[in-house]
Amino acid sequence: MAGMVSKLVVVLVILAVHGACDTSGLDPNFYVNKCPTALEIVRSAVKKAVAEEARMAASLLRLHFHDCFVQGCDGSVLLDDNATFTGEKTAVPNNNSLRGFDVVDNIKTELENACPQTVSCADILAIAARDSVVLSGGAWWSVALGRRDSRSASLSGANQNLPAPNSTLQTLITKFKLQGLNQVDLVVLSGGHTIGMSRCVSFRQRLYGLNGDANPQNIDNNYLTNLKSGCPSSGGDSNLSPLDDVTPTKFDNDYLKNVQSLKGLLISDQILYTKGQSTKNIVDYYAGDELLFMKQFAESMVKMGNIKPRTGSHGEIRKNCRRMN
Ligand code: HEM
Repeated sequence: MAGMVSKLVVVLVILAVHGACDTSGLDPNFYVNKCPTALEIVRSAVKKAVAEEARMAASLLRLHFHDCFVQGCDGSVLLDDNATFTGEKTAVPNNNSLRGFDVVDNIKTELENACPQTVSCADILAIAARDSVVLSGGAWWSVALGRRDSRSASLSGANQNLPAPNSTLQTLITKFKLQGLNQVDLVVLSGGHTIGMSRCVSFRQRLYGLNGDANPQNIDNNYLTNLKSGCPSSGGDSNLSPLDDVTPTKFDNDYLKNVQSLKGLLISDQILYTKGQSTKNIVDYYAGDELLFMKQFAESMVKMGNIKPRTGSHGEIRKNCRRMN
């Protein structure tokens, strides 16, 4: 136990140092003078939301991912559609699926009360994602800050850049590469599926499909039977199953162990193990060492959080995350 604690301390120190020498133009201390209570406001609001519903941690983590893969981490995912503007919320990967917008609204309201027009919606997502992981049992990392919010969104970007649950392995690798993320990032960030839920419509093809990637032989038999009872071949599209059947609300490396035992829920999860030797090796490596997984997850999240931030005079600090000022 003592050994594990000291290993964790070493990991945290490395992460803290790593965060401090960031090259993105972002700075972990960005709000220290501008809004000293910012981090605490986000943390306590996320804590309250996750205490009310454990799944909210997963939903907030996913929001940051879906933000960063479209125009960079700029809060574009949060913009509502209106008569003259189309945002990203109706994109296929987001529609009837993304959650947590109300929690972000509550955080923004509190921040506007404490420090008007100071903390961006994009930064709220980055901090809330980190806090969600920590509250679920994962490792802490230093979040570099100072992202500004976009005055645009991209529906087509959301449809094109975000990977689909039935993407081929090559497509997953390419979509991550386009964001500057490598195969380690792909596997380890997919480990975010250690928490949260998926709708039946997102994994039905894995249960009943017969094409190469969806070959039912790549799925554990008992797991398949259980999943089919909650996800029929037609109907029940919104029925939920946990992405990590073993510990659905705990941030750990069980997702990777599940994938090793053919219990990945999405096709995109399972093919990391069954369709490529290098991604299989990465799954095996991090399935075998939880602390290394936690450390790499944190590093890959920092990398994802650094995708094309708007800084300086670009973008704005929205007053309301759902619309431009
Ligand atoms: C590798 C490509 C990925 C694909 C194809 C993918 C796909 C999906 C799908 C289909 C769902 C279920 C959505 C639904 O049915 O409503 C989901 C949920 C989720 N994804 Fe991913 N994802 C990927 C990567 C990631 C990454 C990089 C993260 C974060 C680091 C992430 C975090 C999550 C979380 C936490 C949930 C559960 C959300 C909730 O319960 O509200 N995913 N993902």
